[in-house]
Amino acid sequence: MAAEAILVEGARKRYGEKDALAGLDLTVGRGTVHGLLGPNGAGKTTTVRILATLLRHDAGLVRVAGHDVRTEAREVRRRIGLLGQHAALDEELGGRQNLEMFGRLHHLGARRAGTRADELLERFGLTDTGHKPVRQFSGGMRRRLDLAASLITDPEVLFLDEPTTGLDPRGRGEVWESVRSLVGGGTTVLLTTQYLEEADRLADRISVVDRGRVVADGTADELKTRVGADRIDVVVRDGARLDEAAALLPAARAEVTVDADRRRLSVPVADRMASLAETVRALDAAGIEAEDIALRRPTLDEVFLHLTARETAPGAGREKEVAA
Ligand SMILES: Nc1ncnc2c1ncn2[C@@H]1O[C@H](COP(=O)(O)OP(=O)(O)OP(=O)(O)O)[C@@H](O)[C@H]1O
Ligand SMILES: [Mg+2]
Repeated sequence: MAAEAILVEGARKRYGEKDALAGLDLTVGRGTVHGLLGPNGAGKTTTVRILATLLRHDAGLVRVAGHDVRTEAREVRRRIGLLGQHAALDEELGGRQNLEMFGRLHHLGARRAGTRADELLERFGLTDTGHKPVRQFSGGMRRRLDLAASLITDPEVLFLDEPTTGLDPRGRGEVWESVRSLVGGGTTVLLTTQYLEEADRLADRISVVDRGRVVADGTADELKTRVGADRIDVVVRDGARLDEAAALLPAARAEVTVDADRRRLSVPVADRMASLAETVRALDAAGIEAEDIALRRPTLDEVFLHLTARETAPGAGREKEVAA
């Protein structure tokens, strides 16, 4: 049995002139949760569809659960589950009826489909929904039922394409709980998301995807460390003196993020306390009044913006994105 549940090497997919995947690499260990994190159009769904054998890639090696998606698609299909970006539930049917239908579609016998439906309803806290049609479900309940449906065949590898997009915080929390409970059972999960917090909470490892490529991967902590351990934020009282203050900060000018609307400067620092003291002294000597000065670790948002910054578009770089 292959050591990894998912192995992608140099995957390419082109739509007309457009490279949806431009040489994507990905390795996911068995029994882990891997986050594929990227902005709209990064290539997340394209990747998931190729892995799930719904779309053919143009070039590269793609293996799932030890089988090649192109030459052994049947073997792959037998071992995977997919929760698509858009749900496939029947609105008029109840939760149990939906799950039974999915079971029958996957060639489970009537009795087996029924017991499997009951097991999954219980596992996701949906037993009490009775015959209530899905259209009366809350967003979180709906997504949990989706998740249950994707698990009908007890897959080795589960793909979740933006499982919590559009849910309120409570619904999101419910789905997170459900995903966590899966992993104890040994299921490998590949999760796509635009929410940094989601990747941070659920994923053992994260691959940041941008324009069809992985631009960074590691644990959330590793990614944070890569961008610069700590930052100093300064809020200047007089917005007119923001640029002057920026020039005084203990870092190369290019590293300073300027948020003019909030009169805030932010800069990565190597030496926390010394840099903080130096900042206070320099501002004081220049007679620039600070409303607030704080030391902090970078947020995952900053890591993400840093890694996906558009180097090719002058003037549309990191500063602007942070300020927006
Ligand atoms: N069927 C298609 N025909 C043409 N272009 C496509 C097609 N599907 C995707 N693309 C393009 O390929 C790129 C990657 O799309 P993909 O759907 O994989 O992105 P995504 O990361 O899932 O984005 P989102 O967060 O919006 O779901 C995008 O530029 C998209 O416009
Ligand atoms: Mg998508």
